[in-house]
Amino acid sequence: MAVQLGNRSTTEAERDFPGDDNDPDHLVSTIPEDTPHIPYQPLKRSDDEILERSREFYDLMAKRRTVRAYSTEAIPQEVLENIIKTAGTAPSGAHTEPWTFVLVQDAETKAAIRDIIEEEEYLNYSKKMSRQWVTDLTPFHTNHIKEYLSDAPALVLVFRQTYSWTKNGKKSMHYYSDMSVSIAVGILLAAVQEAYIQQWTSSG
Ligand SMILES: Cc1cc2nc3c(=O)[nH]c(=O)nc-3n(C[C@H](O)[C@H](O)[C@H](O)COP(=O)(O)O)c2cc1C
Repeated sequence: MAVQLGNRSTTEAERDFPGDDNDPDHLVSTIPEDTPHIPYQPLKRSDDEILERSREFYDLMAKRRTVRAYSTEAIPQEVLENIIKTAGTAPSGAHTEPWTFVLVQDAETKAAIRDIIEEEEYLNYSKKMSRQWVTDLTPFHTNHIKEYLSDAPALVLVFRQTYSWTKNGKKSMHYYSDMSVSIAVGILLAAVQEAYIQQWTSSG
């Protein structure tokens, strides 16, 4: 029987915070002792400058739009790498950086990914999603067909690592990996927006 810890049961706590605290070997930080400390040096800015920057960044991000049709025009390789590196600056639970970004540019692989996703989305729209959910999506005119997955010159696949192995063969848990990866993807979107500011007007 599960024991309540606050309003959570031990089974929930074990699922979210696994680990054997009775095993002394386990009680070693998975972050190496010799990890260098880099001092943080905050910039001094005037209130006016901070206000201006906050407005500009809001204006930039308010122009972001979910795009479902893409140009086939090539993207410079360094731009793609910089966008992914920016996502990798995200904070993560216990600094575990629980993400893998896979950049796919090869037409055959993009087509194979599109096939897998369209097959899965067909099942989602026809069987798995509730009728209410499908109805809620009607204003978006979306369906299981995803041309953009083969049209876009590059796809960034984001994988979440729930754990990893240290050099000493210890299992390192990635706490809050779902939240950490979601934050990284948010930063990735901001990086794309910064590089390719989407212009948007009410006339399209
Ligand atoms: C977690 C999440 C899941 C989403 N799933 C889909 C999806 O399956 N298909 C799609 O076309 N858009 C999807 N979207 C995009 C939303 O429809 C979109 O963000 C929303 O309509 C607001 O529009 P905006 O992003 O242009 O501001 C998703 C967005 C989020 C954050």
